[in-house]
Amino acid sequence: MISIRNLWKKFDTLQVMAGLSLDVKPGETLVILGPSGIGKSVLLKHIIGLCTPDEGTVEIDGKIITSLKESDLYKAVLNMGMLFQGGALFDSMNVEQNTAFHLTQHGHPDKRRYTKKEISEKVAEALEMVGLAGTEKKMPSELSGGMRKRAALARAIIYRPSIMLYDEPTTGLDPIMAMQINELIVKTQKELKATSIVVTHDMFSALYVGDRLALIREGKIAHIAEPDAFLKIDDPLITFLYNTISKDPRSFKEKPNG
Ligand SMILES: Nc1ncnc2c1ncn2[C@@H]1O[C@H](COP(=O)(O)OP(=O)(O)OP(=O)(O)O)[C@@H](O)[C@H]1O
Ligand SMILES: [Mg+2]
Repeated sequence: MISIRNLWKKFDTLQVMAGLSLDVKPGETLVILGPSGIGKSVLLKHIIGLCTPDEGTVEIDGKIITSLKESDLYKAVLNMGMLFQGGALFDSMNVEQNTAFHLTQHGHPDKRRYTKKEISEKVAEALEMVGLAGTEKKMPSELSGGMRKRAALARAIIYRPSIMLYDEPTTGLDPIMAMQINELIVKTQKELKATSIVVTHDMFSALYVGDRLALIREGKIAHIAEPDAFLKIDDPLITFLYNTISKDPRSFKEKPNG
């Protein structure tokens, strides 16, 4: 459970968070919509501990992370994975080294190093999950934009985090690649039984992956609701976003196992 209370954050004179409160339920995928520059990435950075609020709290599974010391914070956010806006692979490392990064960096939860065999097995498993099996030795420059996003996702999920944060996962991708990423978000959420937050301005993606949708405005959550109820909210921005798509993506969703 993620529980955010009365979050305030200012950069110089710019008030980005202004008393934002939000609860994310265990196992749900919450989509956060909002125009560019409104503070969506800043919100995610508060949740993963990369930003400290001026006021307010972020509570993750009963622990208030906003008041933790650096070493405790580090432990508290270890079960979170984030797909950063832009992917952010290390250009000098191949796909295997990129994917293994957190394992080599943090080691085993039992405070020992992972063996080479363990690492290559976990890397193979993560790459398999994102449809990049066999690309271990490729360099980021040899990958397409969609493959880079998927490699970044493999790097984020290798720890099997219980909370996944996605910052604009489909931005800049063609519709087919975007759809693959949408499907991966749904698949990852099911496989890891993770709680996911997806920040986007892609309404197609929002409706495809989201259990609930929220809109940020003026540093607060202006609306939050399940998709059908969200679409009925009388707000010009929601109407505008819905009009950017020609077909409701939920009609594409196969529901073989519910
Ligand atoms: N570290 C920082 N220092 C100063 N200003 C910042 C910092 N991080 C973010 N901002 C400012 O806070 C505002 C919100 O930024 P944020 O990145 O959260 O926007 P966003 O909603 O994610 O936008 P986009 O959809 O374009 O990614 C912007 O005006 C940005 O310039
Ligand atoms: Mg952003």
